[in-house]
Amino acid sequence: MKLSPKYANLKPTPMLKIFQAAAKMDNVINLGIGEPDFDTPKDIIEAGCSAAKEGFTHYPPVMGFFDLREEISSYWSKKYGLSVLPDEIMITTGGIQASYLALQVLCEEGSEILMPAICFTPYFQQADFVGAKVRAVPLDEENQFRLTPESLSRAITPKSRVLILNSPANPTGAVQTEEDLRGIAKIAEEKDLVVISDEIYEAFIFDGKHIPFSSLPGMKDRTITISGFSKTYAMTGWRIGYAFGPSDVIRAMGVISVAQSMGVNTLAQKAAVFALRNRDDFVHEMVNTYKRRTSVAAEAFDSIPSLKCQKPKGGFYLFVNIKETGMDSVTFCMEALEKVQVAMIPGVSFGQEGEGYVRIACTVDEAKLLEAAERVRRFLEETQP
Ligand SMILES: Cc1ncc(COP(=O)(O)O)c(C=O)c1O
Repeated sequence: MKLSPKYANLKPTPMLKIFQAAAKMDNVINLGIGEPDFDTPKDIIEAGCSAAKEGFTHYPPVMGFFDLREEISSYWSKKYGLSVLPDEIMITTGGIQASYLALQVLCEEGSEILMPAICFTPYFQQADFVGAKVRAVPLDEENQFRLTPESLSRAITPKSRVLILNSPANPTGAVQTEEDLRGIAKIAEEKDLVVISDEIYEAFIFDGKHIPFSSLPGMKDRTITISGFSKTYAMTGWRIGYAFGPSDVIRAMGVISVAQSMGVNTLAQKAAVFALRNRDDFVHEMVNTYKRRTSVAAEAFDSIPSLKCQKPKGGFYLFVNIKETGMDSVTFCMEALEKVQVAMIPGVSFGQEGEGYVRIACTVDEAKLLEAAERVRRFLEETQP
């Protein structure tokens, strides 16, 4: 069938190739999967089931149930002192729909979007779908891959309209400092940028506190914050997230969503209300687990000759420097998978600047992470005697 030229030549990405190859093998340690290996807690599941029995089986309000928006408002208020009204919040099908809707509302053909040069892959596609041009802001391993105000100043042009921030970051594990954020806020003000701040890993901070971008002076009116339940409550399959920001932007996102999805799964919304009201303890335990695991795994991978790995300050990913091996990231991942059955994601999947790195998700237990590091050590000893 004749497809639109835009979609006629879709090719499997390196990430997909790794997953497809891994699925055909035995004894694979899969460090590719970007979702918590915890199951959704049973009582959250029960809340979803009870909602079905209570009759929440009809179309939901387009912006999401009011009680859920109230709980989200109270979460950000209690945790960060932010004032977000339910009318400034929209429930979405995962954080991923929130960013796409925001880009649709904010961009037009030819708009320029600034984003970290190494970032969550769908952002490149979403920018393309809305006809925008991506301007990559270079990151530096020396700065733990943080997006610095200096780098942003060098990348910005008079056409730049939107900046995407992501802290803690996928895939680099970077956590923006308050100083970074203040510097970026100053530039946003001077250059009249709108900021989409993806804070989906906000709960996964190992030391200190997450700083919502919209909490900085003057930023509330120019920030759309993205977050959700996938990571925080191990609810990836429920497909529920949200955005909050200036009410005119949020309202327009709601209008577009009617033609896309007409509201978000009712049972997931009711389960999310329960999660916010009752399960801080689960989040705390899970985040402590990832803090321990990322630290242990970073040490293990860093001790392998020719690899370099920093301990992340948040999230659950490691971004490992493989440059000394002389292999490109796709070859490294494909060969490691074939020879020692460890699945990792080539850094180049996250932007050209990600070449020379691989992403490891610490979403298997500590013993498996250590075994994976030993396998990779063996792989390198055998290929690089
Ligand atoms: C940085 C980032 N943003 C957004 C998402 C989307 O999450 P979801 O749509 O499951 O809420 C992910 C998922 O991996 C992510 O890593």
